[in-house]
Amino acid sequence: MLKLEIKYQPRESEVLLPSEMPLLLLLLLGVILPGGDNEDVFQGPTSFHLKQISTFVNSTWAQNLGSGWLDDLQIHGWESDPGTAIFLKPWSKGNFSDEEMTELVDLFRAYFIGFTREVQDRVNEFQLEYPFVIQVIAGCELHSGEAIGSSLKGALGGLDFVRIQNHSCVPAPDSGSRGQKFCALMTQYQGISDIIERLLSETCPRYLLGVLDAGKAELQRQVKPEAWLSSGPTPGPGRLLLVCHVSGFYPKPVRVMWMRGEQEQPGTQQGDIMPNANWTWCLRVTLNVAAGEAAGLSCRVKHSSLGDQDIILYWGHPASLGLILVAVIVPFLILSICLALWFWRRWSYQNIL
Ligand SMILES: *[C@@H]1O[C@H](CO)[C@@H](O)[C@H](O)[C@H]1NC(C)=O
Repeated sequence: MLKLEIKYQPRESEVLLPSEMPLLLLLLLGVILPGGDNEDVFQGPTSFHLKQISTFVNSTWAQNLGSGWLDDLQIHGWESDPGTAIFLKPWSKGNFSDEEMTELVDLFRAYFIGFTREVQDRVNEFQLEYPFVIQVIAGCELHSGEAIGSSLKGALGGLDFVRIQNHSCVPAPDSGSRGQKFCALMTQYQGISDIIERLLSETCPRYLLGVLDAGKAELQRQVKPEAWLSSGPTPGPGRLLLVCHVSGFYPKPVRVMWMRGEQEQPGTQQGDIMPNANWTWCLRVTLNVAAGEAAGLSCRVKHSSLGDQDIILYWGHPASLGLILVAVIVPFLILSICLALWFWRRWSYQNIL
């Protein structure tokens, strides 16, 4: 957490007292002195964003979805009727008091109602046609070596529309006259602009640092991947699709390669990293090879949870043959013993009679 606290630029009211200077010096020394593995100080998410998806079906029917995210991990939901936040983790409130959270939730409830009404009232002015979808993503993130950056982006029908950053509203290049019209309108709503600016540049950074700290046991945990190999649908005559499955790891960054010896294979295809339900990730990495060339290939998995002990799985390795033998022989032995016992008991029973 050392790194995070240093990065947060204090407001005027937070300027340090002289008595705090020695502490600050110590903190700075810890950051500047070599040998500290600062790269490893913070693993896990570095941003917080609120997402809004508003669907306007017709002049009377609209739906708002809201959610809160640390990178790609969801920690808040929004119940639109009656309009309240769902805290998905015990630490989702970060270091905000219940009162401050309640104020924010009230603000967002009023926002969703006002937003829906404003949009419906301005459908003609903005030449919108039902049905349409508006998406908004707003939040802040830690930049390495810099302060925290904040922004708000809006999209209409899946295309960038406007961006609000550093007190200014910038229409997206493809938004045409609508984007300019929207930014002109924003200047008339000075009160709302001020609230947005305060949320972005003051509330969000403060919340982000607090929630990263409150959730650090879960956010900075290390969970090792499991990996296994299989063959996919055959890509053509005489060819094989080798599939390396890697699942159950956290955090998200991972490197999976098909190798021959120490040589990474150029044709490796990596799929998207997909979420599992339990805040871990999974991934499939494939290689299309001539059937005769599959032997000797291996899948190598590098992940922070493994340290430098990469997982290496060999295609058609004797170890997997050994496993198959065990898988066949053990049940066979158990069955034989059961049968033998059954015969023996039957035999002794008959002898008694
Ligand atoms: C608006 O859409 C909703 C949901 O599809 C529908 O039930 C309702 O009848 C529509 N209203 C109008 C005025 O078209």
